[in-house]
Amino acid sequence: LKKTFTSDVFTMPEGSEVELMAWIYTRRLHGGVVFLTIRDSKGLLQVAFKKGVSDPDSMRLGSEIETESSVKLRGVVKKDERAPGGSEIHCSFMEPIGRSIGEFPIRKGASVRFQLDHRHLHLRSPRVAAFMKAKSAFVQGVRNCLGEKGFYEIQCPTLVTAAVEGGATLFPVDYFGRTAYLTQSVQLYQEAAIFGLERVYSLQPSFRAEKSRTPRHLTEFTHLEAEVAFADLDDIMSLQEELVSLAAREVDRRCQAELRFLRKRIDTEAVEPPYPRITYTEALEIMRRRGMELDWGDDLGADEETVLSKEFEKPFFVTSYPREAKGTFYHMCDPKDPRVLRCADLLAPGGYGEIIGGGQRIHDYNQLVESIESWGLNPEDYEWYLDLRRYGSVPHSGFGLGIERTVRWLLGLRHIRDASLFPRTPTRIYP
Ligand code: 4AD
Ligand code: MG
Repeated sequence: LKKTFTSDVFTMPEGSEVELMAWIYTRRLHGGVVFLTIRDSKGLLQVAFKKGVSDPDSMRLGSEIETESSVKLRGVVKKDERAPGGSEIHCSFMEPIGRSIGEFPIRKGASVRFQLDHRHLHLRSPRVAAFMKAKSAFVQGVRNCLGEKGFYEIQCPTLVTAAVEGGATLFPVDYFGRTAYLTQSVQLYQEAAIFGLERVYSLQPSFRAEKSRTPRHLTEFTHLEAEVAFADLDDIMSLQEELVSLAAREVDRRCQAELRFLRKRIDTEAVEPPYPRITYTEALEIMRRRGMELDWGDDLGADEETVLSKEFEKPFFVTSYPREAKGTFYHMCDPKDPRVLRCADLLAPGGYGEIIGGGQRIHDYNQLVESIESWGLNPEDYEWYLDLRRYGSVPHSGFGLGIERTVRWLLGLRHIRDASLFPRTPTRIYP
């Protein structure tokens, strides 16, 4: 897999001979010299064609080749302060690999809608590529962190028969005449897996048929979920702090060039643990002071989270939600105050809101049956899940982190779809 990338050129001494394979980003003529900017996965590089240096056919090709054509070229590295990055290539020979058929559809100034309709082409742009590289670094950071802590990465089903997070956001699928659903969360399967593996995580898509058209909702998102046997709420809150901070620092460490290109900065101090912890009741109090009146028991929606999270500089936990606010059947009630749950959401500061939802699970069989029934659900639909409480049940806790939401916050993206390769929203399923 040997290949010279554009980025390698900047560290090469003047006079080095190189062969590059890349795409044509821009083309211009200036005083009898053809200048191409070429693009590959590592960035941009200027290439000059001059009479006497470049072979005539290559120079002609350079002066007429369409943007986004792919090419192979050879040349010599020249240091030049006027060139972006301080180096350019003086091309001796260039040949096409795949010439573009007609003009590349996406031009400067194209509307967001047009860009999204042509996402398959737009994701070549250095900007989109930079977002995806940051996301990749974040995911790598997550895997490193959990791997080091002895977690096993597992793969859970996506086709399921029952809801985890309430029936309202289930996508039904015709399963040979039966109704199945696309999963909202692999939590229940992870809870089964901990009996053999104790510490597990998954990175899989989750689906939510949420009509909400907000900058923080996708209908398909990448869900990092983890589940730990013999762990209580405090244990997984500490784990979350460490995980978020480590993965964020991995983005900072690996993506300096991309961050510079995007004119973004990871606030590495802000992601340093510990993260503040407030209760749901305290959150209501903060919002009341900001003119947002909520009744105790109301859920915190996107608007509420925006207001609340603007009050913080660091990610922060909101714990002890009332049962009726969360609407989950699996969270354990707080033994000290049974009206609230042993759960915690992690909210990103600056208006970004929830990035993690998690908590301690009910591990007692009778309590779980009672909870399922209290939500009007049928225990028979959860038969296998109840088995887990029949045979050697243990206290356990877990959480789910939305990768796109977290990347949105870290990079300060206006919309969550910018953190997705091919975003799915209520109005978009193509390309
Ligand atoms: O808070 P949620 O619904 O929690 C669960 O699904 C738990 N079963 C997870 C667990 O404990 N294993 O979702 C978890 C996270 C949210 O905090 C958010 O980051 C993300 O998933 N998320 C979404 N991201 C993008 N678009 C949506 N529609 C999302 N819904 C949830
Ligand atoms: Mg949640």
